[in-house]
Amino acid sequence: MNNKAIITSALPYANGEIHLGHVASTYLPADVTTRFLKLNGVEAYYVCASDDFGTPILIQSEKEGKTPSEYVAHWNKRDYDDFTAFNIKFDFFYKTSSPENIAFVQDVFKKLNDSGHIYQKEIIQFYCKNDNKFLPDRYVKGVCPYCMAEDQYSDLCEKCGRVPEEITDPKCSLCGQPPTKEKTNHYFYRLTTFGNDLSKWLDGNEHLQKDVKKYVQNWITSGLIDWDITRDIPWGVPVPLEGAEGKVFYGWFDNHLAYISTAMKFLDDKGINGKEFWNSADIYHFIGKDIVYHHYLFLTSMRLGLQNEYKLPDFIPTRGHLTLQGKKISKSRNWYIGLKQFLEYYPADYLRFYLVSINPYSQDDLNFDWDDFTTRINSELIGNLGNFINRALGFTKKTFEGIVPETEKFDEKDSEAEKRINCLATDVGSLMEQNHLDRALKKIMEFSSHFNQYFQHKEPWKKGPGTANCVFLSVNATRSLAIAMFPFMPESSEEIWKQLGLEETVENNSWKDMSEMKIHPGHILGESAPLFVKVEKTDIEKHKTGLGPAE
Ligand code: MF3
Ligand code: ZN
Repeated sequence: MNNKAIITSALPYANGEIHLGHVASTYLPADVTTRFLKLNGVEAYYVCASDDFGTPILIQSEKEGKTPSEYVAHWNKRDYDDFTAFNIKFDFFYKTSSPENIAFVQDVFKKLNDSGHIYQKEIIQFYCKNDNKFLPDRYVKGVCPYCMAEDQYSDLCEKCGRVPEEITDPKCSLCGQPPTKEKTNHYFYRLTTFGNDLSKWLDGNEHLQKDVKKYVQNWITSGLIDWDITRDIPWGVPVPLEGAEGKVFYGWFDNHLAYISTAMKFLDDKGINGKEFWNSADIYHFIGKDIVYHHYLFLTSMRLGLQNEYKLPDFIPTRGHLTLQGKKISKSRNWYIGLKQFLEYYPADYLRFYLVSINPYSQDDLNFDWDDFTTRINSELIGNLGNFINRALGFTKKTFEGIVPETEKFDEKDSEAEKRINCLATDVGSLMEQNHLDRALKKIMEFSSHFNQYFQHKEPWKKGPGTANCVFLSVNATRSLAIAMFPFMPESSEEIWKQLGLEETVENNSWKDMSEMKIHPGHILGESAPLFVKVEKTDIEKHKTGLGPAE
């Protein structure tokens, strides 16, 4: 394991609230991974930023009668607060519209331009004579030429998922008038020239997911096209060239650069040489599968164009989309669950537990299902893990006044239990290192389940021989669980730590520590109380139509 890491997750558009779909595929896996790396002594930093530029944001701010800056400032704060309530712990959360990022993007552009990776070309764009503006992307609506779906944006048909070459029956999305066509100069990035280098990089990086690599390789072989990186709109990073007044960069030119500029700002402010750190660290970009193209081709080709001044990603953990009750999440159709709203009903750890459990390390979609949520929380989290911890600590309290007893000679079952503790750090850790967070969590649950059986088998309530060993091992297993759970369920983990009567916080331990017996005879436990409250079936019925908005 590299002893340094920078972790990012897809920057959220400053254009609405964070919902379960966002956290499931990127923020939660990234947070769990960062916490794991930190416990392993890795100098790991999780940086993120709001994605502030782009046409949709400009349009929405205009609709709400706000300046784009006011509009994005609102969402930057709100999103950050929602993440915090969910215990997504960034080392730094910034914004793509920061002065540092703007300067960085302009500098990158100049370097790429100077080294011949950029050219200018005259193109024809829709223009609204009524609103006096060019109409890129979402400014134009019309009929999709492929599937005939009506009311689609010119840059993407939501029905068939294709990008229309030219939308049929175009209308200005502001005033509804048919636009005219005007000439304008745009800047293009020579993506076509990077095919070979991208291919080589893909082949050489064994951390990337095989299936993703395969379809990115297919895109490359079937031919890349140069990339239009500018827009004629007043909101974005200005193109720093004479004669390019009024032009800004396309949002996807500048946003991923904020991974770097945000990390540099954070590290430099800490007195660490940012560039040196970046180039000697493992770089992780957590994303959802919808932005593979941007991360595997745009982002990487730009870093190649900069001649690896900032090294390419080592890991791009890519996961599928969340569906809700089996149906595609859609904000416009109000079919989603806001993170903030969810947390008004259930603790963050319930959602963290559930979303990790159902989320494999693959591009398969995952489904949020209220009944499944209820079952997993009640029978796995509470019935297995909560139950074991309550039994172990409650029994020690009741029978030994909370004092861990002296052990006797271990019998076979005790030795088996001890072995489980000794192996836990490696068993769970190796899965974590391979990004299999769901399997790692399952291993933890198996460990807990084993100890439930062990406790049951030992029948300590009969106070026969071996009772003291059972208590000693169960209390130590509880401590192991607290450390193992920390990346997944930090709040519950700290609560268990307190109930164990241990000093400091779980965070200050090392991952390996979970495999040692650090609670000795004579140790006095803290107060114990049930860790979790059951999810009521009757509430769930209400949420099915209420929380996930009715349809
Ligand atoms: N805001 C984009 C989205 O939600 C993601 C930007 S990720 C970055 O799809 F790399 F470009 F920053
Ligand atoms: Zn118009």
